[in-house]
Amino acid sequence: MFRFSLQQVLEMSDKWRSQPLPRDPVYLFIGILSASNHFAERMAVRKTWMQTSEIKSSKVVARFFVALNSRKEVNVMLKKEAEYFGDIVILPFIDRYELVVLKTIAICEYGVQNLTAAHVMKCDDDTFVRVDVVLRHIKMNSLGKPLYMGNLNLLHRPLRTGKWAVTEEEWPEDIYPPYANGPGYVISGSIAKFVVSQHANQSLRLFKMEDVSMGLWVEKFNYTMPVRYSHSWKFCQYGCLENYYTAHYQSPRQMLCLWDKLVRGRPSCCNYR
Ligand SMILES: *[C@@H]1O[C@H](CO)[C@@H](O)[C@H](O)[C@H]1NC(C)=O
Ligand SMILES: *[C@@H]1O[C@H](CO)[C@@H](O)[C@H](O)[C@H]1NC(C)=O
Ligand SMILES: *[C@@H]1O[C@H](CO)[C@@H](O)[C@H](O)[C@H]1NC(C)=O
Repeated sequence: MFRFSLQQVLEMSDKWRSQPLPRDPVYLFIGILSASNHFAERMAVRKTWMQTSEIKSSKVVARFFVALNSRKEVNVMLKKEAEYFGDIVILPFIDRYELVVLKTIAICEYGVQNLTAAHVMKCDDDTFVRVDVVLRHIKMNSLGKPLYMGNLNLLHRPLRTGKWAVTEEEWPEDIYPPYANGPGYVISGSIAKFVVSQHANQSLRLFKMEDVSMGLWVEKFNYTMPVRYSHSWKFCQYGCLENYYTAHYQSPRQMLCLWDKLVRGRPSCCNYR
């Protein structure tokens, strides 16, 4: 039963398979964090913004980053999915919130080692990305300097109580460094390289919130070379706003609706579930 319904979720059509990795440098690599059993979410991304002409022509490359499930049968399907579509990087550990930060490092490694990416973007599988406007915004803002771009938070404080509580042990300081919200941010290839080399010799501080961790690493990079911090609320954290660059918390149905509107030239939201 599980297998049957999965075959319906995953549309095994050539149309949705990825292109092989280009040897030439790419302008942007997009790493999409995804959970092993999010088959429908990945399919919705493939059928919508991954069809952007920049991705189809390999000027931009996008890949899902997925860790293993504790259920064997999910991993079996995941491996089949990865083999067929060619767009999944499977990370060799069981998924846990505390390890999400390792996925972000894996995205940097992929952008630097498997590709030569001028910029690296991180998003989630419920993020809808307008690839062309993100590219335009990078070009307008980088101006030859290392870039850190997204919906930036200044002087945010850790929550000390509740479900998402951060202990003093995990984060002793009172405030977080400036950091871009996790659902959609961009760094320069030079920053990604720095993250990879610092991680290789264990000089990277790892905090469970991947977006705060990135803020920390960029701050460290900024000591040696000034970084352009570029803020825009159009990298939406809570849902979707008109003329968005990225929209968050989008269900597969909303993704299809957003794409449908974009194709008809209207970057407007689909505010229902
Ligand atoms: C990415 O690079 C790693 C390390 O060099 C290699 O093991 C892996 O096969 C590469 N993946 C692809 C899809 O090229
Ligand atoms: C780790 O590697 C980076 C980059 O190569 C270097 O700048 C740094 O000094 C190294 N740190 C240690 C502790 O070896
Ligand atoms: C980055 O470094 C410059 C000095 O080179 C400093 O003025 C600036 O405050 C730093 N920015 C952040 C966000 O740390």
